[in-house]
Amino acid sequence: MKLLVANWKMNKSYNDGLKTLQSVRKKIKNNKKKRYIILPPIQSTLYIKDKLDAKDVFFGSQDCSQYNNGAFTGDISAEMIKKIGCKYVLLGHSERRSLYFEDSKVLFEKIKRASEQKLKIIFCVGERLYDYKKNKSIQFIIKQLLDVFNEKTNFGNIILAYEPIWAIGTSITPKAQEIDSIHFKIKKTIKDKFNILNIPVLYGGSVKSSNSDEIFSLKHVDGGLIGGASLIASEFCKIYDTL
Ligand code: 13P
Repeated sequence: MKLLVANWKMNKSYNDGLKTLQSVRKKIKNNKKKRYIILPPIQSTLYIKDKLDAKDVFFGSQDCSQYNNGAFTGDISAEMIKKIGCKYVLLGHSERRSLYFEDSKVLFEKIKRASEQKLKIIFCVGERLYDYKKNKSIQFIIKQLLDVFNEKTNFGNIILAYEPIWAIGTSITPKAQEIDSIHFKIKKTIKDKFNILNIPVLYGGSVKSSNSDEIFSLKHVDGGLIGGASLIASEFCKIYDTL
């Protein structure tokens, strides 16, 4: 199944979020072949979900705590996310890694907590411009993968997202062939190390309706993780049409 994930980041309050999603839902429908998933700021999710009252729209959280419960001010647990009806959680986004210093040890624990709740995990990897320029993208990414996954990982719940850090919010993307090649190598790494065939890999970083057709037609791309362009209903719907 092809996936299109809207990462709203810290944008839209509950009412604005609801309006955006209502317009999206009027224009596009989920089906067996393709699905869109919305990641609102978590405090809006229950409201939007309840008001929308639609079983065909899927929600996720942009993060979860590495802990189960307790004195962790500001955190939200995987169980709480599950209980409000989210099916997905985004982990390892480069903004969490760089701005909140989330390293592989923390991400390993977050993956564990999310797996215990049977949430589907969208796990982000991606290199810095420095690594890209040195032709070291895949080495950087393989390390990110092998730092958190092992033989015990339940890959049935894992979706990967390749987001080159330098492509996020910049209107710059790698060349189509480069995207396809990285996706292929990510799939090959997971196959060679863990014997998992064809793990889904989404592409994220400056996807817009003007480039989504080309990106989604690549053989090893299973969908997209959209930031800025997911905030505008009509633009998000156009991107979905190219999936
Ligand atoms: P943009 O689509 O705004 O580049 O953001 C990508 C992203 O970070 C999605 O998680």
